[in-house]
Amino acid sequence: SELAKTDALAGKRVFIRSDLNVPLKDGQITEDTRIRASVPAIRMALDGGAAVMVTSHLGRPSEGTVGPDDTLAPVARRLSELLGQPVTLATNWVDGVKPEAGQVLLLENCRCNVGEKKNDEALSQKMAALCDVYVNDAFGTAHRAEATTHGIARFAPVACAGPLLEAELKALGRALENPKRPLVAIVGGSKVSTKLSILQALAGKVDQLVVGGGIANTFMLAAGLPIGKSLAEPEQLDQARAVIDMMKQRGAAVPIPTDVVCAKEFSPTATATVKPADQVADDDQVLDIGPETAQQLAGILKKAGTIVWNGPVGVFEFDAFADGTKVVSQAVAESDGFSIAGGGDTLAAIAKYHIADKVGYISTGGGAFLEFLEGKTLPAVDILQQRAQA
Ligand code: 3PG
Repeated sequence: SELAKTDALAGKRVFIRSDLNVPLKDGQITEDTRIRASVPAIRMALDGGAAVMVTSHLGRPSEGTVGPDDTLAPVARRLSELLGQPVTLATNWVDGVKPEAGQVLLLENCRCNVGEKKNDEALSQKMAALCDVYVNDAFGTAHRAEATTHGIARFAPVACAGPLLEAELKALGRALENPKRPLVAIVGGSKVSTKLSILQALAGKVDQLVVGGGIANTFMLAAGLPIGKSLAEPEQLDQARAVIDMMKQRGAAVPIPTDVVCAKEFSPTATATVKPADQVADDDQVLDIGPETAQQLAGILKKAGTIVWNGPVGVFEFDAFADGTKVVSQAVAESDGFSIAGGGDTLAAIAKYHIADKVGYISTGGGAFLEFLEGKTLPAVDILQQRAQA
């Protein structure tokens, strides 16, 4: 990419779109993976002698003003610590901003600009005029066609991918194109409806589709098992059955839990009871997979050639219902297969069980990670490819 040719960057104005959309609580950053992941691109530009502008969205603000929860100020502070140099936050930057060579300006929450979300052409042109080189390093936002992820790339003099975006595409591509088999996917989370397209896409590719959380409850229901008062979506039963049938026809499988951990209430202090999956009572809630199921899944994961992981298999934020996710996490860590993981809850599980250095690749994407796995075109990547071919 242009960015790698750092000698071409001396004195150039480089505009980097990163994904610095990190979780905040009371103004404090609770998890900074995305900020750390944005550093190599910024370093590359600085090392090349560029004048650097970085921007990102934070949250889903309304356009036109920067509310107190919308500001990138805490991100500027963290980025400055990581880079070991001042990072100045620039407000009202669309109409003009002049970084100097060696300087880093963090351009305030780009989603507060009117026209960002609808990829407004006039806004995109104005932003393109701020730079000589546009770098998209925001894999986490690559599924959005917005002015800083798409429009600007049409008009900037040079548009290229940053090192994080390249690394993400390479790692995720490796897991999907010609993966070492067996290919095992773990899809957890609360709702089938929000993960239906990923489940359907994976059902055509993977050898084992491990479902967890509320999704697993719906699949248990589809398999004719009682689930009591558990979180589930009965309206998704046909879709769940269709996924199971599709897997069966390919000689592949959706392992259905044989035992589960139940409680009478959804609470961190609820009493956890292990039951065979066919003995869940009417007033039970299934909050985790049972130990027998966890061991069975661990066996599948240890033998996997490739693992794709999105979502916990139980309510792991409550310790009494965390064992399933813990065993699955450790099995991913111990597997000789190449593993990729993505999504906020998955990253939280990886952190909780200290397995980060044992996962093949940890994606900074949530929605973008899922859309890539679904085989969808990511608009931010597409426009860079179009520019490269033009
Ligand atoms: C994410 O957190 O998945 C990305 O930053 C995209 O955020 P969005 O869903 O608000 O576009």
